Amino acid sequence: MKKIIAITRGDGCGPEVVNEGIKILRIVSEFTDFDFKFMDAPAGGEVWKRYGTNLPEQSFETIKRSDALLFGALGLPDLQPGVAESAILKIRQGLDLYVNLRPIKLYETLRERCPLKDEFIGDGIDITIVRENTEGLYKNIGKLGEDSAENLMYYTRKGCERIIKYAFGLAKRKGHNKITSVDKANILKPSQLWRKIFHEISKNYSEIETEDIYIDAFCQWLIRAPFKFQTVVTENMFGDIISDEAAFLIGSLGMASSGNIHPGKVSMYEPIHGSAPDIAGKGIANPIGTILSVKLMMQESFNSLEIGDEIDKAVEDALHEGRTVDITNKRLKTLSTTEMGDLIASKLKNRLKV
Ligand code: NAI
Ligand code: MG
Repeated sequence: MKKIIAITRGDGCGPEVVNEGIKILRIVSEFTDFDFKFMDAPAGGEVWKRYGTNLPEQSFETIKRSDALLFGALGLPDLQPGVAESAILKIRQGLDLYVNLRPIKLYETLRERCPLKDEFIGDGIDITIVRENTEGLYKNIGKLGEDSAENLMYYTRKGCERIIKYAFGLAKRKGHNKITSVDKANILKPSQLWRKIFHEISKNYSEIETEDIYIDAFCQWLIRAPFKFQTVVTENMFGDIISDEAAFLIGSLGMASSGNIHPGKVSMYEPIHGSAPDIAGKGIANPIGTILSVKLMMQESFNSLEIGDEIDKAVEDALHEGRTVDITNKRLKTLSTTEMGDLIASKLKNRLKV
C-alpha cells in the first residue's frame, strides 16, 4: 500500500521530534505492506522569515495531495505570537479537520510521574478525548470594541452530528462501553442543541452507555477519578481546555499526541506541545508525543489498528529501559531525543519481524 506522507517539521524542537516519527514510519514501511513516500511541506516561523508567509502555497498543495500530514510544532520567540502559529489554523480550516483527537494514556511504568496521588489514579488512566474542531467560539464570529467585545458560540446540527457520530464510532471500534458528553446545557443554548443530538445519535449505539456531565463538574472528576472515563466528546473550547488539563496526567507534555482529522480525507497528526524554544537544539526533547501521533495516523488514516497497537507497545517496552530527561528515572538510562527514537524503533522492529 503506497502512501504519501507530507512532513512539516516546523520550528524549534519540531524538526528533532518529527525525525523520530519518520524513523518509526520507516520501520513500518520496511516490515509491513505499507510503502511510505515522504514529501516536505515547510511551514512556520523560519519559513516566514525567508518567504514572508508561514504556509507557502506549494506546501499546502503538497499537503492536499498527500494521504496524511505529520506535523512538528510552530513558533519562534523572536516573532510576534501567531505569526508562525496561524499556519496551523490555516491547515485545520483549509482541510476542514473537524475532529481533534487526544488520547490520554498513562503508561503503568510512568505512574510515579503522574501528578495525582496513587489512589486517584486507581486502575489507570486511558481516556480518548474527542473535541469538535471547527465551530463554537473559535469560529471567530465577533467584534472587539473599545468598551465591549463579543464572540458568538455558533453551532450547527451538521457540526454537532458529525463529531458526535465520529465519537460513537470510535468508542465502538475501541470496545468502550461508555461515552461521556461534556457540555453546559444548564446555561448555554449550543449545549442544549448538542445534548439533544448526542441522545438522538446514542439510540444507534444501544451497547454503549451514555453520560452527560457539565464542563465544570468534569474538570473536577478528571482529577478526582480519571479512571471513570473512556471516550469523552465535547465542543471546541471545552475540549481545548480539558485536553490540556488531561495531558498533564500522563507524565510530561512531551508524551501527548493528537490528530486533527477529517475521516476519509487528508488528516494532520502532531504532538500537542509547542516548539519548546527553551530546549530546542539540545537534543533532549521527548519524541514520544510525535511517535504516538504516528500511531494515531496508522489507526485513523490508514485503518491499521494492529500496527498502531504495536507502536504503542514498542513505546511501553522502551520506557522500561530508558527515558528522556522530562520523564527521567534514576534506575534507567537517560536518553537523547534520537536515542529514545532509536530504542523505540528497535522495539518496534522486533515486534513487526515476528
Ligand atoms: P511548549 O509546549 O513549546 O513548551 C512548554 C514546556 O514544555 C517547555 O518547558 C518545554 O521545554 C516543555 N516541552 C515541550 N515539548 C517537550 C518535549 N517534546 N519534551 C520535553 N519537554 C517539552 O509551549 P510554549 O513554551 O508555551 O510555546 C513555545 C512556542 O510554541 C510558542 O511560540 C507557542 O506559540 C508555540 N506552540 C505551538 C504549538 C503547535 O505548533 N501546535 C502548540 C503550542 C505552542
Ligand atoms: Mg490548547
